Order: sequence, then C-alpha cells, then structure tokens
Amino acid sequence: MPHPAIALPRLMAHRGLSAHAPENTLAAVRAAFEAGCTWVELDVQLLGDATPVIWHDATVRRCSDGRARLADLDWPRARRLDAGSWFGDRYRGEPMATLREMLELLDELGMGLNLELKVTRGRNAAALVDSVVPTLLDALPPERLILSSFHDGALARARELAPPSRLALGVLFEGISRDWRSRCEVVDAYSVHADWKRLSRRGARAVCEAGYRLLCYTANDPTAFAHQWAWGVESVISDDPACFAGHLPDA
Ligand code: G3P
Ligand code: MG
Repeated sequence: MPHPAIALPRLMAHRGLSAHAPENTLAAVRAAFEAGCTWVELDVQLLGDATPVIWHDATVRRCSDGRARLADLDWPRARRLDAGSWFGDRYRGEPMATLREMLELLDELGMGLNLELKVTRGRNAAALVDSVVPTLLDALPPERLILSSFHDGALARARELAPPSRLALGVLFEGISRDWRSRCEVVDAYSVHADWKRLSRRGARAVCEAGYRLLCYTANDPTAFAHQWAWGVESVISDDPACFAGHLPDA
C-alpha cells in the first residue's frame, strides 16, 4: 500500500531543539522553528490519569522540579511542575506539554512531527496507542507525521488503527538487528530509524534496497557522521541541527 508523500527534511530537532531549550517542551519546539527546523522528534507517554504528555523519562526527576513517576501523576499535578528551570533560569516555569497543546503549536507553526511512542516498563502500550493515534490523525496531515517506536506491539496496534496511506510508521533500532525485515514488514513500515553509531554500511544498504526510508538518531557530530549520508541516510535527528550547516550532502 502507498505511504504518504513525506518530504523528509535532512535534519529533525531531537526532543525539540534540546541542545538549547528544555527537551520536549513547547519552548523547545519554538526554538527549533526559530532555528529553521521544519520537523521535530518528540516522545509521548500517558500520565496515570491517561493524559498523553510529551515526555521522555519514566519519572519527572531529571527534567522538572518534581520526583514522581509519570504513572503516579495526574494532569492537575503534572501541570504545576516546572519543566524548564533544570535547563536554565530563562526557562523557569516552562510547563510539561500535553500532546494536544503540542499538536496545536505544531499546527500553528506548520511543522512536521516524528512522534516516538515511549512504552516504559510496566506501562500499557495499547492504552497509549489508542489514546494517541486518533488525536494525531485529527491534528496533522499524513505528509507531516511519522509515528515511531522501539515497541513492536505499539506499532502493530497503531497499524490496526490506521492504514499506511494515512499513517507512516517508523521502526526504531539500535543496531540493524537480524530480524529487522520482519519487524518492518509486519507493520508495513515507512521508515527505519537507527542509532547512527551502530549503523553499518551493509545494514544501511539492505534497508534502503528494501525500499524503507532511513533515518538516524541522535547525531551531533557532522564530521563523524559525514560518510553515513552516502549510505542512504535521508534524515538525521539531532539535538542541534545547526551544527550540520555546511556539512550536508547535495539534495
Ligand atoms: O527517535 C529516536 C530517539 O529519540 C530514540 O532515543 O532515548 O532519545 O528517545 P531517545
Ligand atoms: Mg525519542
């Protein structure tokens, strides 16, 4: 089945512009936009009350002034957290963002979204997917959306909810594993997202020859990354996309 006609950007801002603003916040997405990025990678999870929020870790310890596990928080408590001060005083009071708030901002800015379904230990993947996918489909056109995950069950559930023409799915890998092809085929994947440090030329070639788009995370050293472009990588997810200026291959 055909996939959406996505114009993949060379660079996506990882967790928003996370080198310069608190990751996964509205401020980080605004910063990415201001830096000229057209797409962002963000992470999504459910709070304990089933509110989908943009957040990476299983707890709020590292990136806020709180300590709780996401599973133990409801939105009235989560919204009072300061998710900005840990990064810098100028971001004091920056809140955690709900998925809905983030989608409104992306719509306003006309940006694309590579949304990573984060299924942390002990959490229910189907509940996350069933909440997130309908909201995404309402908010963004297929050309500006990739839903990605390391979690095969989450991707399979997402594929049950939307066909390839409506929802591009990205399968996340550390290294390209032996079972990479079956992981992709079973969900009719659009793309493979690999850890750039573990990507081999051979793995990259196999993925590209099979017709999957190849993305790499999280590269912040354009010199070290230079030869991977020639292997067929189309898009790099970076904390600081501007560092690639002058290091990109011709389109
Ligand atoms: O989407 C790829 C990348 O974000 C996966 O790693 O831990 O930064 O979410 P992580
Ligand atoms: Mg991520």
